[in-house]
Amino acid sequence: QLRVLVLISGNGSNLQAIIDSCDDHLQADVVGVISNQPDALGLQRAHHAEIDTSCVIARKGESRESYDLRLQQRIEKYQPELIVLAGFMRILSDDFVSQYEGRMINIHPSLLPKYTGLNTHQRAIDAKDTEHGASVHFVTPQLDSGPVILQARVPVYAEDTAELLTERVYEQEHAIYPIVVKWFAQGRLEMKDNLAFLDGELIGPSGFA
Ligand code: GAR
Repeated sequence: QLRVLVLISGNGSNLQAIIDSCDDHLQADVVGVISNQPDALGLQRAHHAEIDTSCVIARKGESRESYDLRLQQRIEKYQPELIVLAGFMRILSDDFVSQYEGRMINIHPSLLPKYTGLNTHQRAIDAKDTEHGASVHFVTPQLDSGPVILQARVPVYAEDTAELLTERVYEQEHAIYPIVVKWFAQGRLEMKDNLAFLDGELIGPSGFA
């Protein structure tokens, strides 16, 4: 069983999707959940699933380096083999990210490299995109970049609101994130030279299709 640690900041619906798939022979165990927000709903989800939780809350005026060091110390207590960012809304320092190169993944609600950052759904609507989606990628120092592993696409309709589109994308996020965790648990995924490989085959820039 792969030891998985999940970092969250809020709702935790992706955490829930991963917990639920662990029950279905994911070959992985969520050994802990860490939040930077004490009131994150995801912490309750973890309690409910009897998963150990902990909070690392930024202190007033604390530097990114200091926070990341405390986060790293907390993470190490769980001895994780994979770190899953699931709506963890902090930018991580380069040093932190380098520690976990090839062992940390993130999900982002856009078809990367499009729309890094926030408000991705509204931005896709404003740009009159006809498709949108979500991407799971290895984490590298640049925000929401790093080699894409798997993407899911959804249509954008003329009458869409950000809320409708968010729901449509969420459904896909919950489908693809557990798949990627499973691939990792099976030892099928690897990051090398800033590129992602599945079963030794290079995954293209828009993910494994
Ligand atoms: C998800 O939509 C995830 O893709 C996004 O935050 C949401 C968290 O939802 N992540 C980012 O925007 C990262 N840049 P959740 O807490 O219900 O899993």
